Amino acid sequence: MSRNQNITDVLMVGATGSIGQLAVRAAERHGLRPQALVRDTRRAELLLPGVELVEGDLEDPASLRNAVSGAKAIVLTHGSGGDPRPDARAHVDYGGVRNILKALDGAQPRVTLMTSIYATRSDIPGTTPWKRRSERLLRASGLPYTIVRPGWFDHASPTQRRLVLQQGGTGDGGIARGQIAETLVRSLLTGTALGKTFELIATEGEEPSDWAGLFRALKTDESDSVDGVLDPADLPVEAEPQAVRADLDAVRPLNGSSV
Ligand SMILES: NC(=O)c1ccc[n+]([C@@H]2O[C@H](COP(=O)([O-])OP(=O)(O)OC[C@H]3O[C@@H](n4cnc5c(N)ncnc54)[C@H](OP(=O)(O)O)[C@@H]3O)[C@@H](O)[C@H]2O)c1
Repeated sequence: MSRNQNITDVLMVGATGSIGQLAVRAAERHGLRPQALVRDTRRAELLLPGVELVEGDLEDPASLRNAVSGAKAIVLTHGSGGDPRPDARAHVDYGGVRNILKALDGAQPRVTLMTSIYATRSDIPGTTPWKRRSERLLRASGLPYTIVRPGWFDHASPTQRRLVLQQGGTGDGGIARGQIAETLVRSLLTGTALGKTFELIATEGEEPSDWAGLFRALKTDESDSVDGVLDPADLPVEAEPQAVRADLDAVRPLNGSSV
């Protein structure tokens, strides 16, 4: 494995969630020092015993500055599932990424963002573009990143351990939560995952042993685009709401250009 030796302190966003808890433990297994961003410390102490906690709310930008300071890497697995507000995805799934990026204030951690296998599927009823928009913010930010779009959590049999990484947003399928968590952490630590966006499912077969090779086989996102390399061109930035375009401009590096 080609390992980034500089990464030690990792801020885990969404750490109390069903994937986040497993991602925290995966980070520990790989010798990292995870710090969990949490809203409710007492609840988090029960869910994540022994893990360092830092308070913050993704909807409260001021609360995030302390949390992001010093992080060499960030893993984002947050989500608005269960939040009854009709605009929860805009505020949490998308707004959380925007607020973390703004809070970084020039710092350049390695970032892994988990979104969803349907992130670009505007043809499927009930989907929204907010996770895709959150991905665009990360790509526009110029930070070193990997974006993982997992399939349906735990909709895989115990013998389905072979990971299938796809691009273009047309894949479908399930995967064990633990394998998602492991992939998120591996992507942080493996140079060949840099700048890549992929869907992730599992099929019949063995777990991977060559993670660098798995990521190497993928195409890298184009540096002058806010989309994943093979994403459909059905959400033009020019037609996006003004506030979304303003967010893209706000997270770009100072010398960056508009796409
Ligand atoms: N279900 C699937 O098959 C599937 C497939 C692909 C992708 N996904 C996506 O995966 C995402 C995460 O899934 P999950 O099961 O891990 O979710 P989850 O168990 O609901 O966890 C969500 C996490 O986000 C945190 N969070 C929410 N709002 C926050 C805020 N304002 N500030 C700080 N933290 C906040 C929660 O913190 P608290 O503990 O404080 O609430 C929790 O840690 C979801 O968004 C979902 O869309 C799901």
